[in-house]
Formats: sequence, structure tokens, C-alpha cells
Amino acid sequence: MTYDVAVIPGDGIGPEVVDHAMALVEEAAAAHDVSFETTRYDWGSERYLAEGAMMPADALDRLRGYDAIFLGAVGHPDVPDHVTLHGLRLEITKGFKQHVCKRPSYLFEGVTSPLREYAGGDIDFVVYRQNTEGEYADLGGREYGGFDNEVAVQSALFTREGTETIVRAAFEAATERAGKLTNITKSNAQAHGMVFWDDIVTEVGEEYPSVEVERLLVDAASMDFVRRPDEFDVIVASNLFGDILTDLGAGIVGSLGLAPSSNIDPTRIHPSMFEPVHGSAFDITGKGIANPIGTVLSWKLLWEHLGEEALARALHDAVAAQLADPGAPRTPDIGGDSGTEAVVDDLRLRIE
Ligand code: NAI
Ligand code: MG
Repeated sequence: MTYDVAVIPGDGIGPEVVDHAMALVEEAAAAHDVSFETTRYDWGSERYLAEGAMMPADALDRLRGYDAIFLGAVGHPDVPDHVTLHGLRLEITKGFKQHVCKRPSYLFEGVTSPLREYAGGDIDFVVYRQNTEGEYADLGGREYGGFDNEVAVQSALFTREGTETIVRAAFEAATERAGKLTNITKSNAQAHGMVFWDDIVTEVGEEYPSVEVERLLVDAASMDFVRRPDEFDVIVASNLFGDILTDLGAGIVGSLGLAPSSNIDPTRIHPSMFEPVHGSAFDITGKGIANPIGTVLSWKLLWEHLGEEALARALHDAVAAQLADPGAPRTPDIGGDSGTEAVVDDLRLRIE
């Protein structure tokens, strides 16, 4: 069979990392007898500036039939961030019920953590972030603009389906990893949505008696990400908290440019979407120095999701070997002076 993947490079460094990584991904797939075709969609902020919408009105119908979607990043200095985010990424994650955002944080050998006492492999956890609702529900409004009594309301939404799905995915992952799940909320302050969330963790947890559940408030958890990151294994958190904690996770394993992400519909009714954690990074756009490794590792997650374990492993191993080699090219975010292309060219030589 041939897999069909829709590719949306997006804005800023999105097309830089996506297009360069493609040569590597194609070569690795060929080496593992995996056949796939990509269709490129030039959706994003340039389209918004020209036509008033990030994607065409029938975008979801056009994406529906693919085996997976690969996204670069969206975000443009001339377009408000809430427009770019809601007009593309969130429309896809919500429309395709990609309730589960899985984001591993792994400290590779050869990468220096800002937490200097940790060595390769010491930090190895995965965050399961609720991906379709919570604090990112588009619920609220503004009233009395310009008057003294001006107000803004922003509501968080927690549904049983959305919460149970992410919690179950995290428990499943915990059974396959070290049997430990850390549930991160703020249920002391947010006594409705987050206490509901905690109740669901308790409820679903009864089906997984072998998994040890730790509960942390997000403020304390932020400190513990810095103080004892080696003790985390599987983490489950709401949309906002998961978003923040995974940038922190990327920071402590060396760079945002290394971090991969997946947006998964566990029912597999809709295609899942894979993307590096980082955004469009206007500050380095066009300089040719964006780190492509977050993108390569996101392709690893894509192949894992589609059951192509050997191909996924080959991408992972190439990255691990490159990072462990002090003579290999690396981008400036991880202390090197090479560009995106040189890093990808070197990875191509390391595919087995
Ligand atoms: P960002 O992730 O684009 O950049 C943050 C910092 O990390 C910058 O200093 C950047 O140079 C660096 N960085 C990011 N990716 C890198 C890479 N691959 N290699 C080397 N360095 C890298 O986040 P920022 O600056 O907050 O947002 C920029 C735009 O991206 C905004 O419009 C924002 O809304 C959007 N954004 C989009 C996301 C998405 O498409 N999923 C996620 C996060 C932000
Ligand atoms: Mg983020």
C-alpha cells in the first residue's frame, strides 16, 4: 500500500524545516520499503493576507481522506496570532477530534541541558496534552468596549469525551512505559473544570490499578520540571498547561527546535496531524539556520502512528547518532554554526 500524507508547510521557518526534511524522509522510507505520497497545501498567512482566510472553506473535506497530515508552523508578523492559530491548526485539531496531543521530551546524548547535571537519557518523559478544548475553547466575548465597565469573558470548556479521551490515552501510555502517571491541574483555584478533570482521572484510573498516579498543581509542577525532571514519565494536562509545560520540557532537553508533537484522533476515524512544537520563528526566518530535528522527530511519530516502527526507529537512530557525534553539523540553537540543509544532509548519511 501507499500512504497519502497531506503536507502544510505554513509560515516562517515552517516551509524551511518541512521542505529540507522531506528529502531525508523520502530516502528513509525508500530504504525501508515504505511507499508514500505527499500533497502540498500552501495554506497559511500569505493566503490569509491575499484571500482573507488561512485555508479554503472545504479544507477539512480535502484533508479527510489522507492517512496523516504534516504541518510546519503558522504565524506571521502581519496577522494577529489568534487568527493564524484558530484559522488553521485549531480548526483541524477540533474538526478531526484530535483530542490527544502527545509530546515527548527526551534529552539526547550530546545535547547540553541548561540543567547541567543531567546527561543523555536522564530526562525522558511524555506529556499528554488535551488538544481540542479546555482553556482554548473559543468561548467568550467582549462587551462595553471603551467604557469604564468594559469586560472580557473567556471560558474554559471540559467535556467528558474530550477529558476521558486524553486521560485514557495517558493511562494506556503509562502501562506501556514505567507505570507512573502525573496528573497536573490547578484544581485548588479552578474548582469546576479541573475538579471534574480530577474526578475523571480517578474514574479512569480504576481501570488501570497497576498505574501509580501522582497529582501536582501546575505551579509546583513547573518548579519540579526544573528541580527533578528525571522523575517524570507520563504526564497528563489540560490544553493550556500542556502547551506551557511542553515548551518548558523542550527547553530542559536542549532546544525548542528539537521537540516533536502529534495531534491524534485515537478512534482513527479522522487523520492525525504531526508537527514540530515550535512556531514560525520570525526572528530566524530566511536565515537557513532553523533546526530541522523537531520536524524529523515529528515524522518519526507519524510513522509510529501508522505502524511503520522500523522506519520510525531509523529516523530516531539517525538523530541520536548525529547528536552524539561531536564532529557532526548542528544548528546554532544547540551550540553549532551549521544550517538546516547541512544537518539534513548529514542525517541522510546516517539512515540505516
Ligand atoms: P517560536 O516557537 O516561533 O520561537 C520561539 C523561539 O525559539 C525563537 O527565539 C525562535 O527563534 C526559536 N526557535 C523556534 N523554533 C526553532 C528551530 N526550529 N530552530 C531554532 N530555533 C528555533 O515561538 P514565538 O516566537 O512565540 O512565536 C512565533 C510565531 O509562531 C507566532 O505567530 C506564534 O503564534 C506562532 N506559533 C505557532 C505555533 C504552531 O504553528 N503550532 C506554535 C507556537 C507559536
Ligand atoms: Mg506552544
